[in-house]
Amino acid sequence: MNKQILDKSFKPYLNKTEIEKAIEKIAKEINNDYADKNPLFIAILNGAFMFASDLFKKITISAEISFIKLASYQGTKSTGTVITSIGLEIDLFDRHVVIIEDIIDTGKTLSAFLPQLKHQQPQSLKVCALLHKKVATQYPIDIDFLGFEIPNLFVVGYGLDYNGFGRNLDQIMQLEEPLGD
Ligand code: IMP
Ligand code: MG
Repeated sequence: MNKQILDKSFKPYLNKTEIEKAIEKIAKEINNDYADKNPLFIAILNGAFMFASDLFKKITISAEISFIKLASYQGTKSTGTVITSIGLEIDLFDRHVVIIEDIIDTGKTLSAFLPQLKHQQPQSLKVCALLHKKVATQYPIDIDFLGFEIPNLFVVGYGLDYNGFGRNLDQIMQLEEPLGD
């Protein structure tokens, strides 16, 4: 069923079961790769909150999680500016760090943020994202753990928003009209 969010109509794209399966697969990989490494997850707010929460529940090894707020989006297009509004209080030195992102679009947000983290000399730094818009990537980012590769669609739900709304949907929906540039 379609869903109206503000002035736009969205249609189903990825359902609850598909999302759950992708998360289980990622959790399994992380549980294997990070056993005895006490990884520190850093989830990027706001969008990644739901994905981070569901993923973290499936992490069975010893692990920490913290949150940071970055923003580079307004409406349905990236504004290109990266703003940090909540700082990170945990020292990353010598830690195994895994960044949790909802979606990587142009890659601009992470390409600005990852060097800031590397500066603190973590022992390792990897990226986990639920979605990746491959065609839109202007700043290439290595994604170590990925849920879905998607075309250049504007999506909402499962934490992702359209102008602040739609985050509460338990599925991911796509904009009905094509993305104009
Ligand atoms: P990037 O810097 O262009 O890679 O954009 C990354 C951020 O933009 C993501 O973390 C999301 O918060 C937001 N974003 C990118 N694409 C979408 C989308 O299709 N729907 C909602 N938010 C998006
Ligand atoms: Mg985000």
